[in-house]
Amino acid sequence: MEQNTKFNFKKKVVRYSKIYGFGRTYVKIAGRLRKNPLPIRFPISILKKKKKNVAIIGCGQFAFATISYFLKHKFGDIIFGAFDVNESHSKGLVKYYKGKVFTDAESLIKNSNVSYVYIASNHATHTDYAIKALNENKIVYVEKPISVTKNQLNDLILAAKGKQIFVGYNRPFSPAIQTIKPFLEQVKKRKPLSLNCFITGHKIPKDHWYRNFDEGTRVCGNIGHWLDLSIHLLAAIGLPSYLTVSIHASSKKEKDDNLNITLVSDREDIISIMLSSREEPFEGINETINLQHAHTIAKIDDFRRLTIWNRETLIKKRYFRKDAGHKNAILQPFNKKGMVRNFDEVIVSTQLMLEITEAIRSDRNEFVFNIN
Ligand SMILES: NC(=O)c1ccc[n+]([C@@H]2O[C@H](COP(=O)([O-])OP(=O)(O)OC[C@H]3O[C@@H](n4cnc5c(N)ncnc54)[C@H](O)[C@@H]3O)[C@@H](O)[C@H]2O)c1
Repeated sequence: MEQNTKFNFKKKVVRYSKIYGFGRTYVKIAGRLRKNPLPIRFPISILKKKKKNVAIIGCGQFAFATISYFLKHKFGDIIFGAFDVNESHSKGLVKYYKGKVFTDAESLIKNSNVSYVYIASNHATHTDYAIKALNENKIVYVEKPISVTKNQLNDLILAAKGKQIFVGYNRPFSPAIQTIKPFLEQVKKRKPLSLNCFITGHKIPKDHWYRNFDEGTRVCGNIGHWLDLSIHLLAAIGLPSYLTVSIHASSKKEKDDNLNITLVSDREDIISIMLSSREEPFEGINETINLQHAHTIAKIDDFRRLTIWNRETLIKKRYFRKDAGHKNAILQPFNKKGMVRNFDEVIVSTQLMLEITEAIRSDRNEFVFNIN
């Protein structure tokens, strides 16, 4: 058994390096081994000397191996301070990324050295931290979901007025989606969109915090990504007035997992999202996205390959280093003239996500979602 685990670990490192590159794989391992720090701090960034003005709230695996990785990769050691309710997590993060540990979030947010606040804590706390940081006029990046209740969302919308807030829904920032979008946008008279997303997700244990009632179900934890992508693609061709939402779960005991969500609009768009998580996928999450819109047909194979057909045009791309858009999503606060997401779209996708969450909890399989 012991040998088998080691063998699997080695295979996983090799396989992840082929998918994400060696540097990112190294940092993913470093994130897991924080108590026994690895000797080299990848990515190496000796010449990059930007002001240390970033705060990290919630120092789990995503903050360590993705958010902080891409910040260091681009700017060097710009993390000023970090807070986590589990101090060993914040200590491990600042040791690797050369910042200070804070024992409460408020003093970190209020610190005058801090201009940017990145929030990657548990889902139920995102809104509260984001509002605190917005009220201090900090530039806020909040991981998905932005809110897990309608009250939270309404409070956040008010707090975000006239402020700078960026959200961690990354798929719209992937090169695959960026390549497809102009084909959709160039069609003058609105045509309906057909979109299908099949996701093999992580198998999340019953006692994992994602499953706590207050954290908003797996719909808020995961499916929000493809609901948000759907709204983003619909917005590219013109949002419909409403969506008829149908939900089919394979089990009555676990209604937010192994399920299919279908959205049909008043403009004849049809979208199907299936999440399957029967066993843990060895290479992590895997997704296949297919769409047709007017003369465009597109297939995204796990953000590693893209094919687009448009009449006689054929585009084929391979992405060595799977690119689901994390880097560009994370760098939004620094990228004011470049790729930045329209917050109004995220509000619509969050409203849809929260309606689906409520429907699943109250055993409703079908309802109409109005888009204002
Ligand atoms: N965009 C993506 O593709 C993507 C992928 C994975 C995770 N995420 C998001 O990143 C966030 C963190 O996920 P993770 O995978 O790193 O989980 P994780 O469990 O590794 O980390 C969560 C961290 O939050 C800390 N925490 C818990 N309660 C807190 C509180 N009240 N205040 C501050 N910190 C608190 C925990 O101690 C832990 O260190 C989640 O919002 C998750 O949805 C996004």
